[in-house]
Formats: sequence, C-alpha cells, structure tokens
Amino acid sequence: MRPMTVSLHHDGACAIVTIDAPPVNAISQTVRQGLLDAVAACDANPEVQSVVLTCAGRTFVAGADIREFGAPPQPPHLPDVVTAIEGATKPWVAAIHGMALGGGLELALGCHGRVATAEAKLGLPEVTLGLIPGAGGTVRLPRLVPAEMALDMVATGKPVTAQAALAAGLIDRTADADLLDAAKSLATTLGQPTPTLSRAPAPITEAFEAKAKSLLSKARGQLSIPEAVEAVRRGLGSAPEALVEERAAFLRLKSSDQSGALRHIFFAERSTLKDARAKVPPRPLQSVGVVGGGTMGAGIAAACLLSGLSVTMVERDAEAAALGHTRVEGILSQSRARGLLSDGQYDDRLSAFRAVADYAALGEADLAIEAVFEDLDVKHGVFAQLDRHMRAGAVLATNTSYLDVDQIAAATRDPSRVIGLHFFSPAHIMKLLEIVTPAAVADDVVATAVALSKRLGKTAVLAGVCDGFVANRIMTAYRREADYLLEEGALPWQVDGAMRDYGFPMGVFQMQDLAGLDIAWAMRKRRAATRPDTERYVTIADSLCKAGRFGRKAGAGWYAYDGGAPRPDPEVVRIIGTARAASGRTPRTFGDPEIMDRILGAMTREAQAVLAEGIARTPEDIDVVMVNGFSFPRWRGGPMYAAGITSA
Ligand code: 3HC
Ligand code: NAI
Repeated sequence: MRPMTVSLHHDGACAIVTIDAPPVNAISQTVRQGLLDAVAACDANPEVQSVVLTCAGRTFVAGADIREFGAPPQPPHLPDVVTAIEGATKPWVAAIHGMALGGGLELALGCHGRVATAEAKLGLPEVTLGLIPGAGGTVRLPRLVPAEMALDMVATGKPVTAQAALAAGLIDRTADADLLDAAKSLATTLGQPTPTLSRAPAPITEAFEAKAKSLLSKARGQLSIPEAVEAVRRGLGSAPEALVEERAAFLRLKSSDQSGALRHIFFAERSTLKDARAKVPPRPLQSVGVVGGGTMGAGIAAACLLSGLSVTMVERDAEAAALGHTRVEGILSQSRARGLLSDGQYDDRLSAFRAVADYAALGEADLAIEAVFEDLDVKHGVFAQLDRHMRAGAVLATNTSYLDVDQIAAATRDPSRVIGLHFFSPAHIMKLLEIVTPAAVADDVVATAVALSKRLGKTAVLAGVCDGFVANRIMTAYRREADYLLEEGALPWQVDGAMRDYGFPMGVFQMQDLAGLDIAWAMRKRRAATRPDTERYVTIADSLCKAGRFGRKAGAGWYAYDGGAPRPDPEVVRIIGTARAASGRTPRTFGDPEIMDRILGAMTREAQAVLAEGIARTPEDIDVVMVNGFSFPRWRGGPMYAAGITSA
C-alpha cells in the first residue's frame, strides 16, 4: 500500500494540507501525488475558502527526493504540482518552519502567500548537487525578489534567513507565535489568488551583472554554476519559455557525471558516522582543555568556544599563555566582525575562556586536546601531565598530524581514554575532522569524539593509526608524485596549472609556498636516518630550503613573490635542472593530461592501500576526507569515486 505522506483536514473554512514524510519531508512520488490530489479536493469542495500547506516533523520540505534521481522521473512531476497549486481556485499559503529548500521552496513559490518562523531558512541548493532548480524556482523567485538576490540564491545555493526573505518580499510575514495560526490568518485575507508567475520579473541591474561575472569566474569547472546564471537570466524574461528551458536544463544536468558525483559526496558525508562505535552513549562534554596555544591550539579553542563549550588552555609558561589568549581573542573578534557573534555573545564566550601555565587547571575538564609541537617526546611529556592531572574518565586527545597515536597513548596509565582528533587549519573554519582510533580506545571515547564533532559542526571521519592517517597520507603521495614529475621534466607551475584545470583551487607547489617549506624540511631531515636506500628521493625541495626559499613568507619558494602574486622563477628552473642532472634522468616534456593521470593514479593507489589496511572504513570516507580536507574538486566526487571505486 502507498504510504500516506500527505493528509488533508479542515479547520473551519481553511483546509490544512500536511506533508509528513520523515526525516525531511523530501518530495517523493507519493508526496507529489498526494499534493495533486489535495489541490483537486480543495478546489472541488465549496466549504473550503483557503488552504495552508504545512509540514510535520522538524522541517518544511527539504527538496525533491534525491534518492529518486538515479531513476527516470515518475509522474506526477514536480513542475506540474507547483503549477496546479499556483492555478488553484482557493488561495494557498505555505507555513514554513525549519528549512524550505529546493523543490520545497519551489512549492512555497507556487503558493499565493508565505509565512515562516523567525528561525526558518529558505534556499535553492540544487547547484550544490550539480543541478539547477527544476520546478520553476529560477522563474518565480525573481518575480518576488531583486534579480541579484535571486541569482545569489540560485547560483551559490546559500539559503537566506526568514528576516532577509521578509525584507526582500520572498515571504509575506514571520510568525511571532503560532505558525499555523499566522498562516491561516494570512490565507483568509488573500481573496482571489494571484499567481506568482503573473508578476513582472525584477529588472536586470548592474549588481546582477557584477555578481554573474564574479560567480562565473569562480566556477572552476563546475557546470551547474554557469547553467544557474543563465537560467536566472532567462527567468528574468518571458516566463513560459524560461520554464521550459529550466526543466530541460535540470533534466540534462540530473543525468550528468558532475551531478552524479555531487550526489555521491552528499550521501557520503552523511554516511561517515554510521559506525557502531559512534552509537554508544558518549561521556559528558561541557568543558574542554586545550594544550598548546599556537596556530592549531588557538583555532581549536576558538571552535570549542564558538560552539558554547568552556575552554581552559595550558601553555608552557605565562608568556606563551598570554600569547595563546591573544590569538583566541583575535579569532573571536573576527567572528564578531563577521556578524557571527553579538557584542554580548563575544563577552560571554571570552569569559568562558582562560589560558594558564598550570596543568592542575584541567582537573575538572571533560576532555583535553593536545596541540603542541609535532615531537613524540614533547607529546609524551604532555600526556604524562594530562594523565596525572585530569580526572579518571576524562578523554585525552591529540591533534598530531603524523605521529603514532598508539605510542602517545602508551605514555598514559589508561590508553583506552586516548584518541586522535586531527583538525585542519584554520581549525575554527575547516569542516573536516579525522577521529583517529588507536587500538585500545574505548567505544564511548569514540562516541564522545563524535559528539564533539557534531557540536562543533564538523564533518567527521573515523580513521585508523598510520603515518598521516587518511588525508595527509594521500596528500603525501600527491606531493611525492609531483616531485617525481619535476625530476622527470615538468615544472612546478605546469603541474599546478594542470591540477587547477582538474578542479583543485590551488596546485600543490603553491600550497606548499603558502604553508612554508621549513617544517616539512625539518621532518625530512629527522627521517633521513631511517629512510631506506632503495626509496626514490627527490632533492629539489631540500635545495630550495638550503637557498632560504621557505615559501611566500620568505618572498620566494617554488615561485617568486616579488610582486605579491606567485611568479615562475628562472632560479627555480636552474635548481631543478641541477637536481635532474644529479639524478641522472633525461628530462622530457609532459602534457597536462599525463600530469593529471600520474597524480590521480598515485593518490588512488595510496587510497586503496589506506582502505586495504583498514585505516579508512570505506571508499566514501576517503572521498569525504579529500574533498573537505584538501579541496579535491567536489564535483568529481573524490579520488575513489573518480576512479570508479565505491562501496555499492
Ligand atoms: N532527498 C532525500 N533524502 C534527503 C534529502 C533529500 N532532498 N535531504 C536529506 N535527506 C536525508 C539524508 O540523506 C539523511 O538520511 P540518513 O538519515 O539516512 O542519513 C536524512 O535525510 C537527514 O538529513 P541530514 O543528516 O542532512 O539532516 P540535517 O538536519 O543535518 O540537514 C537538511 C537537513 C538541511 C535538509 C539537509 O539534509 C540538506 O541540505 N538536504 C538536501 C537539500 C537539497 O539539496 N535540496 C534540493 C534537492 S534537489 C531539488 O529539490 C530539485 C528540484 O528543484 C526539482
Ligand atoms: P605551533 O608551533 O603553532 O604551536 C605549538 C604550541 O605548543 C606553541 O604555542 C608552544 O608554545 C606550545 N607548546 C609546546 N610545548 C608545550 C608544552 N609542553 N606544554 C604546553 N604547550 C606547549 O604548532 P601548530 O601548527 O599549532 O601544531 C600543533 C600540532 O598540531 C602539531 O602536532 C601539528 O602536527 C598539528 N597540526 C598542525 C596543523 C597545521 O596546519 N599547522 C594541522 C593539523 C595538525
């Protein structure tokens, strides 16, 4: 039997149509059919004077049911449902709580009035799935809001708040108290329904053109962005033609490789914590200790504060503690300047923070995250202190990038409470968190790390212990292959250009220049003694460091930076030439496709090893890590998906 996802009941002369399709009221075929039936029933019933469209559960409609996108669309189609609502003989009002997204907002746009709770958000995120709206969003939206706002919503996919929606005319009212009452009250005042499509489109402005130009320049190969810009432009003209072309573009994009890849990563991101260890009850989590107040420690402390936790930072001495305090204050001030914190919230968050030089201050903390120098002896010292000062049961975490978390745990009396929490820089901004699980870790410690990641709004992935875990290990393979290419005849700007063309925002050499070449050099020197003689080793980066070319901060690295922007440098060509000669290799030329193949091949081989060794749970986890940690082009789905490797 077909599930009942749409119900209709009567409240006096007002009909209440309720969608109830957990978890997010996605518009499946049964919802579409239910809505169409409701339109017919309300039109046919002389008792009904007006209709309110509402949703059960935590949200209004989150869009079309993406799970149906792999198969041909089944009737009734969403554009027809929206058209039926718009053409209804009684006024329909959408009562929006939670999110009205994609097809959900398109349903609301077909209604004759819209009311939303103050916390609601409205958006057309189709572009993030490699699509454009397919049920009239690009045509109806610019008939309610200014052209540049419609463009921004359609081509970035970013939702707007109820307040912004009200100011722009996208909704008619916000509901101060009861949403349904507010919607009913609006519905009774509307009288003869006015179709949104009968309104004149917003005029094209200079701001629209400037925004379109900027969006196109940032598309980086993602086809849905220029398609979205064009669709909104058409939507600002004649509605019937624009609707036909919008639907055709939507269907074309739906079957594109890019949309397939973006849908893959959407579901992959929601699958990473489907692990038995994440499901046991977590330990308490209110106050956090952070050891080390440098780049990472300050970012981690700020992320915790911004999520409402209280934070005690421990540094080496009072001076370093004061510096750490200043760094965290700086990040909170930036958040205030960006409007993420009010003055009152800023004061409150700062008062929940202290930086000291005494581990005894962590006596009551529920969890400590260590972010001191990347040195096993230093980390052992810190964990011995944490073990001594923190209460039994408190979780001890390390933010190490490469070190063995099992060895770090061994410095404590209870290794079952030690875990890795590998944040990415800047920690208060980057979404990815690798939760590194050493052999002895307790399940509820893993669950506590998962609870922290949710609290911080991070996309977390579980990883096993190895040198570099998932992200850094695969990136090391990328860097190594890029070095081989230099030794064999390519140049840094050529390798970077090829990978930018593939869709990365930045090439690996430019990225190294930004991060600084000195830390990796120090690590290579430390590892030199244990490096097998048989391992191929490229000396070019060492030569750059010996010449003081530590990257952008030194004014020179893989590129020259005399004018600010990176510039190919003949001196680097000379250094590479010397290293090539010493290696005995005869340089040859490389085309961009070969460079891409070599680097992607190296990444995929390493990723397969990571999977085979059980360091990553699934190919999807690897894709999530590389897309969110190292900007692997999202529209390619991640290195495993791009290589055709999935769990399915
Ligand atoms: N279709 C099918 N399933 C969906 C879905 C959708 N549109 N949106 C969410 N889900 C599923 C998720 O996969 C997840 O399933 P799981 O529990 O089995 O893992 C479950 O609903 C809950 O989702 P989240 O974990 O993401 O819950 P959150 O509360 O964190 O977020 C949300 C809710 C903001 C609505 C978020 O899920 C989201 O952004 N959804 C996608 C919205 C979207 O892109 N809509 C446009 C769809 S395309 C469209 O409408 C085309 C139209 O123009 C024709
Ligand atoms: P950093 O050098 O900026 O900061 C380290 C801080 O630790 C300094 O402020 C130092 O005073 C403090 N410190 C050193 N010994 C201490 C001790 N015994 N007790 C208390 N404080 C002590 O280093 P960064 O970049 O913040 O890195 C920290 C850790 O995070 C390292 O393990 C690193 O590998 C890891 N990491 C770094 C990333 C990055 O991009 N910088 C990314 C992810 C992880």
